[in-house]
Amino acid sequence: MFKGKKILLCVTGSIAAYKAVILLRLLIKNEAEVKVIMTHAAKDFVSPLTFSTLSKNKILSDLFDEETWANHVLLGRWADVIIVSPASCNTIAKMANGICDNLLLAVYLSASSPVLLAPAMDEDMWNHAATRNNLQILQKNGCQILPVNEGELASGLTGKGRMAEPEEIVWYLNNFFNSKTALKGKKALVTAGPTYEAIDPVRFIGNHSSGKMGVALAKELSRRGAEVHLILGPSAITVPAGVSSTRVVSAYEMFEATFTYFNQADIIVMAAAVADYMPEKSAKEKIKKGDKRLILGLTGTKDILAKAGELKTHNQILVGFALETENGKENAIEKMHRKKADLIVLNSLKDAGAGFGYSTNKISIFEKNGAEHSFEKKSKEEVAVDIVNTIIDYKNE
Ligand code: CTP
Repeated sequence: MFKGKKILLCVTGSIAAYKAVILLRLLIKNEAEVKVIMTHAAKDFVSPLTFSTLSKNKILSDLFDEETWANHVLLGRWADVIIVSPASCNTIAKMANGICDNLLLAVYLSASSPVLLAPAMDEDMWNHAATRNNLQILQKNGCQILPVNEGELASGLTGKGRMAEPEEIVWYLNNFFNSKTALKGKKALVTAGPTYEAIDPVRFIGNHSSGKMGVALAKELSRRGAEVHLILGPSAITVPAGVSSTRVVSAYEMFEATFTYFNQADIIVMAAAVADYMPEKSAKEKIKKGDKRLILGLTGTKDILAKAGELKTHNQILVGFALETENGKENAIEKMHRKKADLIVLNSLKDAGAGFGYSTNKISIFEKNGAEHSFEKKSKEEVAVDIVNTIIDYKNE
């Protein structure tokens, strides 16, 4: 898988350092040439001898010892990719701020190779505003941040912050190396997230969509070479580096933004969970508590996908989503034809771990020409790869 690839594995001080050993074994098994940098803190968790034996290379930790000076500039240039795994909170903070007090940081600052980070930390540290900001800075500076998993943490608590599994990291690296330029020169438009329909200035009708799937799609389309514009409803997810975006709140705003960009787009993916109804009237002032009953009149929103289906030309590929709780296949195919989409992605809320809020998804894709593709449950990033592959292979008749 990685024959001829040079990988610089940087290990920092974290309990997840033991997973870096498994990662190194997998990389070597897949014929990569690997050099390992360990911070001094990493050595408290795993012995350098384990890494040097597996990599068949001397472990690098210091900028110099009594006899030699480690040429950090050449190391950063030698590697086809640098992977920091695990990336501790401390190293992330130092990398984001240009601190250079160890070999790993010196290599990072002088590297011309792409840098991937697999963070590992406790949930509170992961969620802290300082870490959020640091990760944003690193992304802005071109680093790719691998998602963390949820589960048991070193603290004994359960939550977000577990480092990605070695097999997942291998999958990312493989993807990274195979990142094609299949969509170079193409423009893609993606809608994602929920919409909020105001009842009054403080209340709204919304849904549980996180925006994760649509954002993962925007990122994947961009990675494959497309110029991507993302129209994102209220969502806490960060817009990926290299993707331009318009933030919207309501279905009306999403409609307007979509048709501002629609004509120029070659690929249009509508992953947003758009509200079907909005209040007939949105009160200007906060509605005061009155009688026991309050009747809210609702009226339909404009269907963005259906409008796109009406307007689309032969050269545009239109992809819709269908979230179904029953008769998934029949409903999805009916929806695709009714809204004149070329492809429809079905996710069934009945599948455990699929749909709103989860990091995983299980999908099937139906094409208007009758072809269908079913996939296993995967992370939303992997699902995005499957969807984009299907779009690339799709031939408009
Ligand atoms: N969609 C849209 N605009 C709307 C409603 C839905 O663009 N006002 C798009 C979604 O982004 C998705 C597709 O239509 O790509 C299907 O959404 P879904 O909510 O499953 O379909 P509905 O038409 O709302 O059908 P129903 O809720 O009755 O299943």
